[in-house]
Amino acid sequence: MKKLFYLLFIFATQTCFAQKFNGLAKTPPMGWNSWNKFACDVNEELIHETADAMVSSGMKDAGYLYINIDDCWHGKRDSLGFIHPDPERFPAGMKALADYIHAKGLKLGLYSDAGWKTCGGRPGSRGYEFQDAMQYAKWGIDYLKYDWCNTEGLNAEGAYLTMRDALFSAGRPIVFSMCEWGNNKPWDWGKKIGHLWRTTGDITNCFDCVVDHGTWKSWGVMQILDMQKGLRQHTGPDHWNDPDMMEVGNGMSVNEDRAHFSMWCMLAAPLIAGNDLRNMSNETVEILTNADAVAINQDKLGIQGFKYSAQDSLEIWLKPLENENWALCFLNRAVAQREINFAWQKNTISDSLSQKTLDFNKNSYIIHDVWAQKKIGTTQGKTLKTMLPGHDVRLLLLEMQN
Ligand code: GLA
Repeated sequence: MKKLFYLLFIFATQTCFAQKFNGLAKTPPMGWNSWNKFACDVNEELIHETADAMVSSGMKDAGYLYINIDDCWHGKRDSLGFIHPDPERFPAGMKALADYIHAKGLKLGLYSDAGWKTCGGRPGSRGYEFQDAMQYAKWGIDYLKYDWCNTEGLNAEGAYLTMRDALFSAGRPIVFSMCEWGNNKPWDWGKKIGHLWRTTGDITNCFDCVVDHGTWKSWGVMQILDMQKGLRQHTGPDHWNDPDMMEVGNGMSVNEDRAHFSMWCMLAAPLIAGNDLRNMSNETVEILTNADAVAINQDKLGIQGFKYSAQDSLEIWLKPLENENWALCFLNRAVAQREINFAWQKNTISDSLSQKTLDFNKNSYIIHDVWAQKKIGTTQGKTLKTMLPGHDVRLLLLEMQN
């Protein structure tokens, strides 16, 4: 009888009271994902070397934690229905890989799909949600990206809820990254289900362009930025808008990479690098590990930045931070240079969402130039006047003086 009550209790707590694992992503998750650079070409050696490089490059120290294997790690299901990794690509198995990653103080992520097949045609989780979650927990997986290909007829909220419950009942805390490309407005219902949700289709390695693949399109950095409009009230600690993984280090110019990274920081976006960590230029490392930029992204308030003004391709973005500090970013979307001419005292900016006001007449701020890595005075000076190259940013951290 006692045993029966115990079993009923376990059943009730694990199914009726299923929930997401709270508190796993109090600040936007930081890590790496294989897709943007390697697509289906993933294997054990690449993951080992990427983890090694995450440590040796200083990225781990800068805050990057997750090593996420995207599509195509899958092998077959066994006779009982449990999924296994592709034995040729991952001969030592997922548990051994997770052990390797954990020994470095990092965490391992995997990818699956709510449909019967992934976007890359591998086995999806449909009908196997609880078994897959059990398998991930057994292997020691820490993060799951859950895609939306081959889901005809499925209700998105229901499908993601099922996987959330499956992960919860498997008992291992796993960050749940929802990837249905913003099709079903996940920002309206995703907070109780996942820790982050994609707001758009796939990013492409280009600053300002759209790539038409026929049945779908992928989007440049500026296009994705524009698609974040109207979403900032939905984001915050443990539930993030995800404008997709980064393309920093994949071939854009240094200016463009810097602008891309800065805007992802201003958006409080998850910082998931998508480049080859084993072969990075110094510039790429400097961009990905800039401490002030990362601090802007990781600010505890978790407020997504907003566009304050736009004129002649020059945009000004703001993000309220802890301790009454602010991040201020000038973004030049044009190819040609533009002049910044910003009179501090003439701009008093109120953010109705955070109910914070940036008033340079009332308060003075020390100006930290994030990319020059130096202080450049205070806002008591009259005007910030400087040239900004094309496709570049001037990112400033404004520290309130008491
Ligand atoms: C979709 C996702 C991408 C990637 C691929 C893998 O397109 O949006 O981020 O995971 O599938 O096939």
